[in-house]
Amino acid sequence: MSFTVNPDWWKSLFDEVYLLTDARSVDNAEVTQHEIDVVCSLLPLRPEDAILDLCGGQGRHSLELQRRGFGDCTVLDYSEVLLERGRQIASDNGCSVRFVQGDAAQTELPGGTFNHVMILGNSLGYLPQATDDLRIMKEARRLLKPQGHLLLDITDGAVIRERFQPNAWHEIAKDIVVCRQRELDKDAVRVREVVLCKERGLIRDQTYAIRTYAPEQLESLVYAAGFADVTLHRNFSPQQQQGDYGFMNHRVLLTARV
Ligand SMILES: C[S@@+](CC[C@H](N)C(=O)[O-])C[C@H]1O[C@@H](n2cnc3c(N)ncnc32)[C@H](O)[C@@H]1O
Repeated sequence: MSFTVNPDWWKSLFDEVYLLTDARSVDNAEVTQHEIDVVCSLLPLRPEDAILDLCGGQGRHSLELQRRGFGDCTVLDYSEVLLERGRQIASDNGCSVRFVQGDAAQTELPGGTFNHVMILGNSLGYLPQATDDLRIMKEARRLLKPQGHLLLDITDGAVIRERFQPNAWHEIAKDIVVCRQRELDKDAVRVREVVLCKERGLIRDQTYAIRTYAPEQLESLVYAAGFADVTLHRNFSPQQQQGDYGFMNHRVLLTARV
C-alpha cells in the first residue's frame, strides 16, 4: 500500500494532538534542557545576542534560553496553535520571548537582524520540494548578521534508513495510543499516523512525509545556501531510553557561519 500525502500537511499537523503524540520529545523539560546544554556548547552565545528559533514550535528552546539569561529570543513558526501555547507559557512565567507566525521559507522579518539562527528538533524537510529546504536555508542566511551563526539539528537520515521500522506504536499516559505505519521513499519517509484515545475514540488519522538527509547531504545543502565553515556533530540522541522516537532521536547537529 502507498500513502497519499497532502503536500500542505505541515500546515495543520502541529496542533494539540502533536503536543501529545510527541510529548516524550517536545514536552519534556529534561530533554529540552539537555538539548539546550548542547546548543550552548556549540554556539558562542552572549547574553545580548539576538537569537532566532526558526520553526521553533511552542518555543521550548527559546523559553529555556531565556531562563538561562539569553534575553533576546524570537520564535517563528507556522502553527498558530503552538505559538499560542508558547505565548501562554511565556506569560505565565514572565518571559519576553517574541512569537511570530510565518513561513520559514519567506519570513518577512528584516534581513541581517540575528546573531544566531537555530532550527532545532528536526524541523526541516516538511515542504514538498527539496528546493523548499534550500529556500529555508537561504532565508536563514539572509536573516543573519555578518559573521552570524547557524545551528541545525536534524534526524540523521542515514540512521533512519539503516534502522527503518515500518511499524511503531507507543502509549501516552495510559489513555492514548499512537500508531505509525511508515514507507521508505527515495528521499523521504511517508507516515500514516493513527491516534486513539480511550475516552474520545479516533483523534487522528493523517499522513505526512518528511525528507531525510544523510549528514553529508545536509552539509551540501548548507553550503549551497552560501554558508561557510560547515561542521557536522554526529550521534546526538537526546532520548536515553530504548524506544522508537520516530524522527526525534539519532540526530545530527550542524554549525555554520555566514
Ligand atoms: C517537530 S516540530 C519541532 C518544533 C521545535 N523546533 C521543537 O523542537 O520543539 C516542527 C515545527 O516546524 C514547524 N514548521 C515546519 N515547516 C515550517 C515552515 N515552512 N515555516 C514555519 N514553521 C514550520 C512546524 O509548525 C512545527 O512547529
